[in-house]
Amino acid sequence: MLLRVENVSKLFGGLKAVDDVSLSIEKGEIVGLIGPNGAGKTTLMNLIGGSHKATSGSIFLDEVETTGLRPNKICRLGISRTFQIPRPFPDLTALANVGVGVLCGKSRPHMSYSEAMLDASHYLEFVGLFGKRNTLAKDLTLFEMRSLELARALATTPKLIMIDEVMAGLNPGEASRAIGLVRRMIEEYHVTILWIEHIMKVIMETTDRVIVLQYGQKIASGPPREVINDPKIIEAYLGEEIA
Ligand SMILES: Nc1ncnc2c1ncn2[C@@H]1O[C@H](COP(=O)(O)OP(=O)(O)OP(=O)(O)O)[C@@H](O)[C@H]1O
Ligand SMILES: [Mg+2]
Repeated sequence: MLLRVENVSKLFGGLKAVDDVSLSIEKGEIVGLIGPNGAGKTTLMNLIGGSHKATSGSIFLDEVETTGLRPNKICRLGISRTFQIPRPFPDLTALANVGVGVLCGKSRPHMSYSEAMLDASHYLEFVGLFGKRNTLAKDLTLFEMRSLELARALATTPKLIMIDEVMAGLNPGEASRAIGLVRRMIEEYHVTILWIEHIMKVIMETTDRVIVLQYGQKIASGPPREVINDPKIIEAYLGEEIA
Protein backbone atom coordinates (compact mmCIF):
# COMPACT_ATOMS: atom_id res chain seq x y z
CA MET A 1 0.00 0.00 0.00
CA LEU A 2 1.46 3.38 -0.99
CA LEU A 3 -0.42 5.57 1.51
CA ARG A 4 -2.06 4.42 4.69
CA VAL A 5 -4.02 6.80 6.95
CA GLU A 6 -5.11 5.23 10.23
CA ASN A 7 -7.77 6.71 12.51
CA VAL A 8 -6.60 10.26 11.91
CA SER A 9 -8.38 13.17 13.59
CA LYS A 10 -7.78 16.91 13.65
CA LEU A 11 -9.37 19.21 16.19
CA PHE A 12 -9.49 22.99 15.76
CA GLY A 13 -10.60 24.06 19.24
CA GLY A 14 -13.92 22.29 19.66
CA LEU A 15 -14.35 21.53 15.95
CA LYS A 16 -13.48 18.06 14.65
CA ALA A 17 -12.40 19.01 11.13
CA VAL A 18 -11.22 15.44 10.48
CA ASP A 19 -12.85 12.74 12.56
CA ASP A 20 -11.25 9.30 12.84
CA VAL A 21 -10.54 8.87 9.13
CA SER A 22 -8.81 5.75 7.80
CA LEU A 23 -8.00 5.21 4.14
CA SER A 24 -5.39 3.69 1.90
CA ILE A 25 -4.21 4.36 -1.64
CA GLU A 26 -2.40 1.88 -3.86
CA LYS A 27 0.41 2.80 -6.22
CA GLY A 28 -1.02 4.04 -9.52
CA GLU A 29 -4.52 4.74 -8.21
CA ILE A 30 -6.35 7.97 -9.04
CA VAL A 31 -8.52 8.65 -6.01
CA GLY A 32 -11.11 11.43 -5.82
CA LEU A 33 -11.76 13.08 -2.46
CA ILE A 34 -15.18 14.69 -2.41
CA GLY A 35 -17.65 16.12 0.07
CA PRO A 36 -19.57 19.34 0.79
CA ASN A 37 -17.82 22.61 1.69
CA GLY A 38 -16.18 22.40 5.09
CA ALA A 39 -16.20 18.59 5.10
CA GLY A 40 -12.49 18.44 5.98
CA LYS A 41 -10.99 17.58 2.59
CA THR A 42 -8.27 20.22 2.57
CA THR A 43 -7.53 19.59 6.25
CA LEU A 44 -7.01 15.90 5.53
CA MET A 45 -4.60 16.85 2.76
CA ASN A 46 -2.80 19.20 5.15
CA LEU A 47 -2.38 16.31 7.60
CA ILE A 48 -1.01 13.96 4.92
CA GLY A 49 1.35 16.66 3.64
CA GLY A 50 2.48 17.66 7.12
CA SER A 51 1.42 21.32 7.12
CA HIS A 52 -0.97 20.45 9.97
CA LYS A 53 -0.24 17.96 12.72
CA ALA A 54 -2.87 15.34 13.42
CA THR A 55 -4.46 15.44 16.88
CA SER A 56 -4.44 11.63 16.82
CA GLY A 57 -3.88 8.76 14.42
CA SER A 58 -1.02 7.68 12.15
CA ILE A 59 0.01 8.13 8.52
CA PHE A 60 2.40 5.92 6.53
CA LEU A 61 3.95 6.31 3.08
CA ASP A 62 5.34 3.05 1.72
CA GLU A 63 5.18 1.72 5.30
CA VAL A 64 7.40 4.57 6.57
CA GLU A 65 5.60 6.52 9.27
CA THR A 66 5.24 10.19 8.34
CA THR A 67 2.97 11.28 11.22
CA GLY A 68 4.24 14.56 12.66
CA LEU A 69 7.04 15.04 10.11
CA ARG A 70 7.48 18.50 8.63
CA PRO A 71 6.28 19.14 5.03
CA ASN A 72 9.85 19.33 3.64
CA LYS A 73 10.65 15.87 5.05
CA ILE A 74 7.40 14.46 3.71
CA CYS A 75 8.13 15.99 0.31
CA ARG A 76 11.56 14.30 0.27
CA LEU A 77 9.86 11.01 1.07
CA GLY A 78 7.64 11.45 -1.98
CA ILE A 79 4.43 13.43 -1.39
CA SER A 80 3.81 16.72 -3.20
CA ARG A 81 0.73 18.85 -3.62
CA THR A 82 -1.03 21.82 -5.13
CA PHE A 83 -3.13 24.33 -3.18
CA GLN A 84 -6.81 25.31 -3.39
CA ILE A 85 -5.61 28.94 -3.43
CA PRO A 86 -2.30 28.84 -5.32
CA ARG A 87 0.76 29.40 -3.17
CA PRO A 88 3.71 30.05 -5.48
CA PHE A 89 6.80 31.90 -4.27
CA PRO A 90 5.46 35.23 -5.60
CA ASP A 91 8.77 37.05 -6.14
CA LEU A 92 10.55 34.16 -7.85
CA THR A 93 10.27 33.53 -11.57
CA ALA A 94 8.13 30.67 -12.86
CA LEU A 95 11.33 28.76 -13.61
CA ALA A 96 12.76 29.25 -10.11
CA ASN A 97 9.44 28.16 -8.55
CA VAL A 98 9.69 24.83 -10.34
CA GLY A 99 13.41 24.70 -9.55
CA VAL A 100 12.50 24.77 -5.86
CA GLY A 101 10.37 21.70 -6.53
CA VAL A 102 13.28 19.96 -8.24
CA LEU A 103 15.70 20.70 -5.40
CA CYS A 104 13.26 19.84 -2.60
CA GLY A 105 12.11 16.62 -4.18
CA LYS A 106 12.58 12.96 -3.62
CA SER A 107 15.63 12.09 -5.66
CA ARG A 108 17.77 15.17 -6.25
CA PRO A 109 19.90 15.91 -3.17
CA HIS A 110 23.15 16.33 -5.15
CA MET A 111 21.86 18.23 -8.14
CA SER A 112 23.54 21.58 -8.92
CA TYR A 113 21.52 24.78 -9.33
CA SER A 114 22.02 24.88 -13.10
CA GLU A 115 21.04 21.22 -13.50
CA ALA A 116 17.94 21.91 -11.40
CA MET A 117 16.96 24.85 -13.62
CA LEU A 118 17.38 22.72 -16.72
CA ASP A 119 15.18 20.05 -15.21
CA ALA A 120 12.67 22.70 -14.14
CA SER A 121 12.41 24.04 -17.70
CA HIS A 122 11.39 20.57 -18.85
CA TYR A 123 8.46 20.55 -16.40
CA LEU A 124 7.52 24.12 -17.34
CA GLU A 125 7.42 23.06 -20.96
CA PHE A 126 5.22 20.10 -20.06
CA VAL A 127 2.58 22.38 -18.51
CA GLY A 128 2.84 24.92 -21.35
CA LEU A 129 4.58 27.66 -19.36
CA PHE A 130 8.03 27.63 -20.90
CA GLY A 131 7.33 30.98 -22.59
CA LYS A 132 6.64 32.46 -19.13
CA ARG A 133 9.79 31.09 -17.51
CA ASN A 134 11.17 34.53 -16.63
CA THR A 135 7.84 35.96 -15.43
CA LEU A 136 7.50 36.45 -11.67
CA ALA A 137 4.95 34.05 -10.24
CA LYS A 138 2.88 36.93 -8.82
CA ASP A 139 2.36 38.24 -12.36
CA LEU A 140 0.87 34.98 -13.68
CA THR A 141 -2.87 34.48 -14.21
CA LEU A 142 -4.77 32.08 -11.93
CA PHE A 143 -4.71 29.39 -14.62
CA GLU A 144 -0.97 29.85 -15.08
CA MET A 145 -0.42 29.65 -11.31
CA ARG A 146 -2.36 26.38 -11.20
CA SER A 147 -0.25 25.03 -14.07
CA LEU A 148 2.88 26.23 -12.26
CA GLU A 149 1.86 24.39 -9.10
CA LEU A 150 1.31 21.20 -11.08
CA ALA A 151 4.78 21.60 -12.60
CA ARG A 152 6.34 22.25 -9.18
CA ALA A 153 4.58 19.23 -7.70
CA LEU A 154 5.71 16.99 -10.58
CA ALA A 155 9.26 18.33 -10.35
CA THR A 156 9.68 16.75 -6.91
CA THR A 157 9.35 13.31 -8.63
CA PRO A 158 6.67 12.33 -6.12
CA LYS A 159 5.18 8.94 -5.38
CA LEU A 160 1.89 10.70 -4.59
CA ILE A 161 0.54 14.04 -5.81
CA MET A 162 -2.32 15.65 -3.94
CA ILE A 163 -4.36 18.10 -6.01
CA ASP A 164 -6.71 20.48 -4.21
CA GLU A 165 -9.33 21.79 -6.66
CA VAL A 166 -7.41 22.51 -9.83
CA MET A 167 -10.52 23.97 -11.51
CA ALA A 168 -11.84 26.39 -8.88
CA GLY A 169 -12.17 29.94 -10.17
CA LEU A 170 -11.23 29.10 -13.77
CA ASN A 171 -13.41 29.86 -16.78
CA PRO A 172 -14.78 26.81 -18.63
CA GLY A 173 -12.06 26.85 -21.29
CA GLU A 174 -9.26 27.05 -18.72
CA ALA A 175 -10.91 24.43 -16.52
CA SER A 176 -10.96 21.90 -19.34
CA ARG A 177 -7.32 22.69 -20.13
CA ALA A 178 -6.46 22.12 -16.46
CA ILE A 179 -8.21 18.75 -16.52
CA GLY A 180 -6.39 17.88 -19.74
CA LEU A 181 -3.13 18.69 -18.02
CA VAL A 182 -3.85 16.39 -15.08
CA ARG A 183 -4.84 13.63 -17.50
CA ARG A 184 -1.56 14.03 -19.38
CA MET A 185 0.31 13.88 -16.07
CA ILE A 186 -1.38 10.59 -15.33
CA GLU A 187 -0.54 9.18 -18.78
CA GLU A 188 3.04 10.37 -19.05
CA TYR A 189 4.28 10.22 -15.47
CA HIS A 190 2.17 7.35 -14.11
CA VAL A 191 1.62 9.29 -10.90
CA THR A 192 -0.63 8.28 -8.03
CA ILE A 193 -3.12 11.03 -7.26
CA LEU A 194 -5.38 12.07 -4.41
CA TRP A 195 -7.64 14.64 -6.05
CA ILE A 196 -10.15 17.00 -4.43
CA GLU A 197 -12.66 18.25 -6.99
CA HIS A 198 -16.25 19.48 -6.78
CA ILE A 199 -17.09 18.85 -10.44
CA MET A 200 -18.66 15.38 -10.45
CA LYS A 201 -18.26 14.86 -14.17
CA VAL A 202 -14.51 15.12 -13.82
CA ILE A 203 -14.49 12.80 -10.82
CA MET A 204 -16.62 10.26 -12.70
CA GLU A 205 -14.48 10.33 -15.82
CA THR A 206 -11.04 10.46 -14.30
CA THR A 207 -10.86 8.66 -10.96
CA ASP A 208 -10.64 4.94 -10.15
CA ARG A 209 -12.19 5.38 -6.74
CA VAL A 210 -13.88 8.06 -4.68
CA ILE A 211 -13.72 8.75 -0.96
CA VAL A 212 -16.48 10.92 0.52
CA LEU A 213 -16.10 13.09 3.62
CA GLN A 214 -18.92 14.74 5.53
CA TYR A 215 -18.47 16.65 8.80
CA GLY A 216 -14.93 15.31 8.95
CA GLN A 217 -15.99 11.68 8.73
CA LYS A 218 -15.44 9.26 5.88
CA ILE A 219 -18.95 8.21 4.85
CA ALA A 220 -18.18 6.24 1.68
CA SER A 221 -15.45 4.83 -0.54
CA GLY A 222 -15.84 2.98 -3.82
CA PRO A 223 -16.09 3.20 -7.62
CA PRO A 224 -17.29 6.70 -8.63
CA ARG A 225 -20.50 5.57 -10.30
CA GLU A 226 -21.64 3.53 -7.29
CA VAL A 227 -20.75 6.18 -4.75
CA ILE A 228 -22.38 9.04 -6.63
CA ASN A 229 -25.67 7.14 -6.98
CA ASP A 230 -25.73 6.21 -3.29
CA PRO A 231 -28.77 7.97 -1.66
CA LYS A 232 -26.64 8.70 1.44
CA ILE A 233 -24.18 10.65 -0.71
CA ILE A 234 -26.90 12.52 -2.61
CA GLU A 235 -28.36 13.48 0.76
CA ALA A 236 -24.99 14.70 2.00
CA TYR A 237 -24.77 17.07 -0.96
CA LEU A 238 -28.35 18.12 -1.53
CA GLY A 239 -30.08 17.63 1.83
CA GLU A 240 -32.60 15.05 3.00
CA GLU A 241 -35.68 16.51 1.26
CA ILE A 242 -34.30 16.51 -2.26
CA ALA A 243 -32.65 13.10 -1.78
N1 LIG B 1 -6.67 26.45 10.37
C1 LIG B 1 -7.94 26.29 10.77
N2 LIG B 1 -8.37 26.75 11.95
C2 LIG B 1 -9.64 26.57 12.37
N3 LIG B 1 -10.58 25.92 11.67
C3 LIG B 1 -10.22 25.44 10.47
C4 LIG B 1 -8.89 25.59 9.95
N4 LIG B 1 -8.82 25.00 8.73
C5 LIG B 1 -10.05 24.51 8.50
N5 LIG B 1 -10.88 24.77 9.53
C6 LIG B 1 -12.29 24.35 9.63
O1 LIG B 1 -12.31 22.94 9.45
C7 LIG B 1 -13.44 22.54 8.68
C8 LIG B 1 -12.95 21.78 7.45
O2 LIG B 1 -12.33 22.70 6.57
P1 LIG B 1 -11.65 22.27 5.21
O3 LIG B 1 -11.01 23.49 4.67
O4 LIG B 1 -10.79 21.10 5.46
O5 LIG B 1 -12.91 21.84 4.36
P2 LIG B 1 -13.01 21.42 2.81
O6 LIG B 1 -13.70 20.12 2.75
O7 LIG B 1 -11.67 21.54 2.17
O8 LIG B 1 -14.00 22.54 2.25
P3 LIG B 1 -14.05 23.31 0.82
O9 LIG B 1 -14.74 22.38 -0.13
O10 LIG B 1 -14.88 24.52 1.11
O11 LIG B 1 -12.64 23.65 0.43
C9 LIG B 1 -14.21 23.80 8.35
O12 LIG B 1 -15.24 23.95 9.32
C10 LIG B 1 -13.16 24.90 8.51
O13 LIG B 1 -13.75 26.12 8.87
MG1 LIG C 1 -10.89 22.71 0.68
